[in-house]
Amino acid sequence: MGNSHDSRDTIHLQNVEGASNSSGTQENAAIKKTVLVGVTGGIAAYKSCVLVRDLQKQGFRVKVAMTEHATNFVDPLTFRSLTHEQVAVGLFDDPEDPIHHISLADEADLFCVAPCTANFLAKLAYGIADDLLSTTALAMTCPIVIAPAMNIHMYENPATQHNMQVVSSRGIHIVEAGSGYLACGYTGKGRMAEPEEITSAIVSILNTPQDYQGKRVLITAGPTHEPIDPVRFISNRSSGKMGFALARCAHARGAEVTLVTGPSQLSDPAGVHVIRVETAEQMFDACDQNFEACDFAIFAAAVSDMRPARIHDHKMKKNNPEDDLSEIHLVENPDILKTLALKCTHQKTIGFAAETNNVLENARRKLDSKHADMIVANQVSETKTFGANNDEAWLITHNGETHIPETSKDNLANKILDAALKL
Ligand code: CTP
Repeated sequence: MGNSHDSRDTIHLQNVEGASNSSGTQENAAIKKTVLVGVTGGIAAYKSCVLVRDLQKQGFRVKVAMTEHATNFVDPLTFRSLTHEQVAVGLFDDPEDPIHHISLADEADLFCVAPCTANFLAKLAYGIADDLLSTTALAMTCPIVIAPAMNIHMYENPATQHNMQVVSSRGIHIVEAGSGYLACGYTGKGRMAEPEEITSAIVSILNTPQDYQGKRVLITAGPTHEPIDPVRFISNRSSGKMGFALARCAHARGAEVTLVTGPSQLSDPAGVHVIRVETAEQMFDACDQNFEACDFAIFAAAVSDMRPARIHDHKMKKNNPEDDLSEIHLVENPDILKTLALKCTHQKTIGFAAETNNVLENARRKLDSKHADMIVANQVSETKTFGANNDEAWLITHNGETHIPETSKDNLANKILDAALKL
């Protein structure tokens, strides 16, 4: 095997063209990561030449494998000249390497299919291996990135959309197509993302440690809505941003993530299994069903403590004597964290404490009363925590406390994930 995938977190990106010290080339060769660019048959294949150059400028060794159809758009000689490497096309092209698809897959640190046609996407979704590139794809153990490119109607076709969901749920990273003038004459979504966008996605994936690979993470997010009648409910100011950031970051670090979220404007993070619920009871049921299988459960949702004892089936009217709007009888909701933490077999549980007063004192109390392994405490004020993009927090465990100065919710999410691994 070539480069080991385990060494991904020690990646050093270098500008190859600028790195010409005396031992330059050899030194670079020793540390370079290999990106295998898979080119499939679409007109956007011409942009893959720029992608190859951009990746080389980032210090990667780039190899190219093409489908037969792709060779109608760009001659393999172009990629051979750019990469100084053999360009693989046919399954049996290399007489010295009869199992070429396996050696190609083994030496790649990342496999990027750009452009990825609707046909190749479907093959990825269903595990069809009927040529060199699709067979190589099936043998890949490294991260896979695809940049779809196709006609707008093919892109929007439910079959294509379904295939994108399938591959995304398996952790394949999708660099979404952009909108604009398409080669087929239509205007709309379907243009392959620009090479620099694909390069930047690749750089960020290869720089992210895969320390959650093989781990299952359950996350709650957002507020809950507790209905009073068909038009009214009790809720709170939670936006869901923290829970969604945790889901995104855990997925990027290789975890299989289930996100149970209350009502939130945020869209589903790619590759994450999202369960959307309304009420605390529904959130409890969804978490209960997924708790046993998880390794980490992170409760970032702002769950309503109480719900109306009775949900009126009609809109309550202020002048109807039977609808007394001034008095709504409340009953307690299940405490999801506390109930599930008591059922722990191997799971690590992490709760949140968003407090207005005595933040640390309240958070320490919650660590014990909720039987959690860690509490993330933060101060709520008019501008902080709910809906904000940044946050300051204290990570409180049974072994001590760590202060995280104000930072983005993504950074905070990664600090929480770092700390969770040490529990
Ligand atoms: N939590 C939960 N289920 C509930 C209430 C809270 O899972 N019914 C979780 C939250 O997701 C959070 C932690 O418990 O991780 C603390 O939530 P918080 O609302 O701060 O605690 P409460 O127990 O509601 O205490 P209080 O409202 O008195 O501060």
